[in-house]
Amino acid sequence: MPYYRVVGEVPRKRHVQFRRPDGGLYAEELMGEEGFSSDSSLLYHRYLPTAIVKAEAVEPGTETRLEPNLPLSPRHFRTQELASAGDLVTGRMVLAGNGDVRLSYATSDRPSELYRNSMGDECVYVQRGRVRFESTYGVIEAGEGDYIVVPTGTIHRWVPEPTGGPVNVLAIEAAGHIRPPKRYLSQYGQFLEHAPYCERDLRAPAEPLVVEGEEVPVLVRTRGGLTRLVYRNHPFDVVGWDGYLYPFAFNINDFEPIVKKTHAPPPVHQTFEGPGFVVCSFCPRPLDYHPEAIPIPYNHHNVDSDEFMFYVGGDYSARAGSGIDVGSISLHPAGFTHGPQPGAVEAVIDAVARGITTTSEMAVMVDTFRPLDLGQGALSCEDPGYAWTWAR
Ligand SMILES: [Fe+2]
Repeated sequence: MPYYRVVGEVPRKRHVQFRRPDGGLYAEELMGEEGFSSDSSLLYHRYLPTAIVKAEAVEPGTETRLEPNLPLSPRHFRTQELASAGDLVTGRMVLAGNGDVRLSYATSDRPSELYRNSMGDECVYVQRGRVRFESTYGVIEAGEGDYIVVPTGTIHRWVPEPTGGPVNVLAIEAAGHIRPPKRYLSQYGQFLEHAPYCERDLRAPAEPLVVEGEEVPVLVRTRGGLTRLVYRNHPFDVVGWDGYLYPFAFNINDFEPIVKKTHAPPPVHQTFEGPGFVVCSFCPRPLDYHPEAIPIPYNHHNVDSDEFMFYVGGDYSARAGSGIDVGSISLHPAGFTHGPQPGAVEAVIDAVARGITTTSEMAVMVDTFRPLDLGQGALSCEDPGYAWTWAR
């Protein structure tokens, strides 16, 4: 996170005695990235964060096998056809992945158990529904269009709002850290004026969340697999914390799109960066305004990237005839040139001539710099005719 935050009670100096009302000491914990050399926070626990009483191996809730995109093809997956398979953690159906990132989809109306992903940061995009994110840092109330960025190792759980219906999410699980793009920040971390969002758009826990309990299981994900650790006391026992490292939410509707006279490439939509990938937000915006502009993408072959595009709202004029709809995901891999479907360029030029000046498209894109393998969740909802839609 780019800025300092303090929540609840913390002592005046770090690493000094900080006492509970009964005279005992609070237990200080440093959560820090990159071996004491990057962002960190200090958390003050009522109980020892080290006290575990049991550890057991756990089988994954859904199929996590990946296979190469062979024969190489552009793909269309219809997440609308995926059923709920558990909670928002164990019910994640793997769509695609590589050594840098795993992309999954989940639908659920039930609370997850406590979860700690120790492989990397997660960015969870809420497509639909309302959900309460509870963590050792406190609570974030989230809803449609929110990205919730969860730092590596944060113990948390997802609690769908009981009357809000099922929650649909796209989970972006990094093998490393997910941050705002460096080029949006000053050398000391403040968002610059050209950035399409800034500190005021970010929401983070405002007060501590303290829950009493004993023998509390926490599902822990590491490269070795899944383990259920049972903590002697409830891990939500933090009375205060401060630092630069904490979960936060950003809503896609707070993204300020940048528009050019002629068509701008996806980096103007960039929202986050991770190891070997970027996340971009395509939001409603004015169309490109040169009198002879073609205000949809040109055919392109981004030779170093696989492009994973999740269509979350609006109208897809560039994709007419492709079968793409809200809830669809397209995967356009390196090795394949992609672009608008036949007739789409002429149709948008005609629409502009009729006075249309805006686009309502909304999409979340993950561009990876290494090829994406395909997950069983994606293969179970694939539209097999998509690859041939440009040749019709
Ligand atoms: Fe593209």
